[in-house]
Amino acid sequence: MRLLSHLRLFSAAVFFIGILDVLASPQKSLGTLYRWKQMGFVFPTPEDRDAAIQSGAYIPANVIPLGVERWKSRVFVSTPRWKKGIPASLAALPIEATEASPPLTPYPSWDWHTADNCTGITSVFRMAIDHCGIMWVLDSGQVEAFETPRQICPPTLIAINLEKDSVVGRFQIPEQFVLQDSLITNIIVDSRDPQCRDLHVYISDVRRFGLIVFRAADAAFWRFSHYTFYPDPILSNYTLHGVNFQWTDGLFGMSLGSYHLGDRPLYYHSMSSSLEFVVLTSVIRDPSRVNDSVDEFKLLGESRGPTGQVSAAAVDRNGIMFFNLVSQDSIGCWDTRKQYKIENLGIVAKNNKTLVFPNDLRLDHEVPQVGWIISNRLPMYQFNLNNANEYNYRVMFLDPLAAIKHTVCQYN
Ligand SMILES: *[C@@H]1O[C@H](CO)[C@@H](O)[C@H](O)[C@H]1NC(C)=O
Ligand SMILES: *[C@@H]1O[C@H](CO)[C@@H](O)[C@H](O)[C@H]1NC(C)=O
Ligand SMILES: *[C@@H]1O[C@H](CO)[C@@H](O)[C@H](O)[C@H]1NC(C)=O
Ligand SMILES: *[C@@H]1O[C@H](CO)[C@@H](O)[C@H](O)[C@H]1NC(C)=O
Repeated sequence: MRLLSHLRLFSAAVFFIGILDVLASPQKSLGTLYRWKQMGFVFPTPEDRDAAIQSGAYIPANVIPLGVERWKSRVFVSTPRWKKGIPASLAALPIEATEASPPLTPYPSWDWHTADNCTGITSVFRMAIDHCGIMWVLDSGQVEAFETPRQICPPTLIAINLEKDSVVGRFQIPEQFVLQDSLITNIIVDSRDPQCRDLHVYISDVRRFGLIVFRAADAAFWRFSHYTFYPDPILSNYTLHGVNFQWTDGLFGMSLGSYHLGDRPLYYHSMSSSLEFVVLTSVIRDPSRVNDSVDEFKLLGESRGPTGQVSAAAVDRNGIMFFNLVSQDSIGCWDTRKQYKIENLGIVAKNNKTLVFPNDLRLDHEVPQVGWIISNRLPMYQFNLNNANEYNYRVMFLDPLAAIKHTVCQYN
């Protein structure tokens, strides 16, 4: 039954990328579920849509998808309010595609996106879903980051029950952990027991180089700083499809290794860097270690080289890490049982049209597990270079087992 719906998902998506050029034979390990030239919304009525366009509340060219997650029959997409004219910041889409470029349905409902005080949802960067069906939503509280940034609400973690479509918790990140110009952008969940009672959320501050930990049991937050959270100056200079730009982005991508003997590693990297690091979660889950753990954060192995910048990464149930190589239009793989060396890093997909700036990457809780990727041409969006007549944004899916076939990550 699960397998059947998995197979239907793969055949329902019509935009298969035929040949991944690193693979010997054509594979269908990566597909596009949805793609958009510009993104629309399901407004209550056509008149509401017209009014939103008239008033500037909806500017189609300004809407960009960033975060993706999947729970059962739905895919969730965030659309941060980085420029004016984003009417809603979190949306749901059906997993069974019936059209190629569907409008977004605001989630949990329109009301959450229209309250002009801090009781609603302001600007969502990314989401992470635990295995109990709670979606942890990172609301930056900041709008118009690419125009004139305004922090209109505090950064907040919002918990949404996906079976009931209801908000079940709001946790404001305490002021002492949000530094001036902090940009709190990424989130992963570490839940271990069947009921998700022992649950922590790890949050990265990409601009002030911090790791914020949230413990659900008592809603406590704490923050680690470390020199490995900083960007590499040379890798902060990007050239992508002819566009040169500088991003000094620190701690960003995080992924969790296998649970073993009561502990598991957190792998992490700065966005503008080619190095991967690791720390044991037993260290970061202990708030008494914030000033006493400098040697626990370790370099993992070799550099990924001059175009080795990675956005998001995730480790599947079989211990394979998948990661978005933003300067190579590619998705990479690494078997976490092997040493982190160039010869052990593979490429599972590469495409200079569909994978231009692969940004988010998540693995869902289904059996078999499916990977979810958003590619969004972010630098072109930032500099207003996107062409409204071309497909700029994609929600893609990856079959992790098929993806690693004939790569160095294949295991027996
Ligand atoms: C915030 O806005 C919502 C929707 O407009 C309203 O129902 C609520 O009472 C407001 N809350 C406060 C504290 O002003
Ligand atoms: C940054 O990249 C551009 C384009 O490749 C190059 O011309 C420039 O020299 C680089 N700057 C540094 C400091 O490496
Ligand atoms: C860590 O150091 C900071 C700054 O000195 C201090 O405010 C904080 O209480 C310390 N935390 C712990 C858990 O020791
Ligand atoms: C994409 O790759 C193809 C095949 O390698 C190449 O012919 C084409 O010029 C590339 N396009 C861009 C925009 O890099």
